[in-house]
Amino acid sequence: MLKLNNISFRYKDQDHWLLRDFSLKANKGDIVAVQGSSGSGKTTLLNILCGVIPKIFNGEFSGNISINNIDLAELSLPRIAPFASLLMQEPENQLSFPTVEQELAFGPENLNLKPDKITSRIQEALGVLEIENLRHQETSSLSFGQKKLVTFASILTLSPRIFLLDEPTAGLAQKKAKMLKNLIRSLANRGKIIFVADHNTNFTDIATHTIDMDELNHDLSD
Ligand SMILES: Nc1ncnc2c1ncn2[C@@H]1O[C@H](COP(=O)(O)OP(=O)(O)OP(=O)(O)O)[C@@H](O)[C@H]1O
Ligand SMILES: [Mg+2]
Repeated sequence: MLKLNNISFRYKDQDHWLLRDFSLKANKGDIVAVQGSSGSGKTTLLNILCGVIPKIFNGEFSGNISINNIDLAELSLPRIAPFASLLMQEPENQLSFPTVEQELAFGPENLNLKPDKITSRIQEALGVLEIENLRHQETSSLSFGQKKLVTFASILTLSPRIFLLDEPTAGLAQKKAKMLKNLIRSLANRGKIIFVADHNTNFTDIATHTIDMDELNHDLSD
């Protein structure tokens, strides 16, 4: 189970809090839709959930997060990633290798999986996302939507308990977006916890919880 206890955060020099005493519990199978206007703090919340905040970004942070009673503050970022993996809003910032195959091998290699297991995870991830054709492509040659799918595949190869998805359908045609939504639902059915940030309300119909960042901010200014 994932627990957020009394989380407060604002970036350095920011005059308003993006989160104030925010608490939440999520269980296996939950889909949490994180919605709100641009600048409301959706990406910030996902960065808190994977430990990037407060470990990397400067700001005022308090509260704690635990996954199955393990305090996130006690784990380094590389140790958190296999538990709670982030799909970044900007895939450019996430892709680090020349080819798609190398990109997808990196995570499971770091988990010290055997080579045949790594190969099968890569194949499965490419297959589920219907992007087998991209396997040997250079990551720099991909479109924005293709980069999003490749970064999603790289997370699938880690098989984390918690998926933190920042605008996962941005740049995707309707058919692919629908496929991704079905995938998110099936991951939840298999016991994963999913957080999905989206400008619109694209995921509220499949969500078990909805966090409206605008409403939280509104509450703060009252
Ligand atoms: N590294 C940072 N340093 C300082 N301020 C930041 C930083 N990142 C974001 N902010 C500010 O924090 C607020 C929330 O940003 P965030 O990116 O979390 O919003 P968002 O809801 O994800 O927006 P979008 O829908 O445009 O992706 C904004 O006012 C933004 O300018
Ligand atoms: Mg964002």
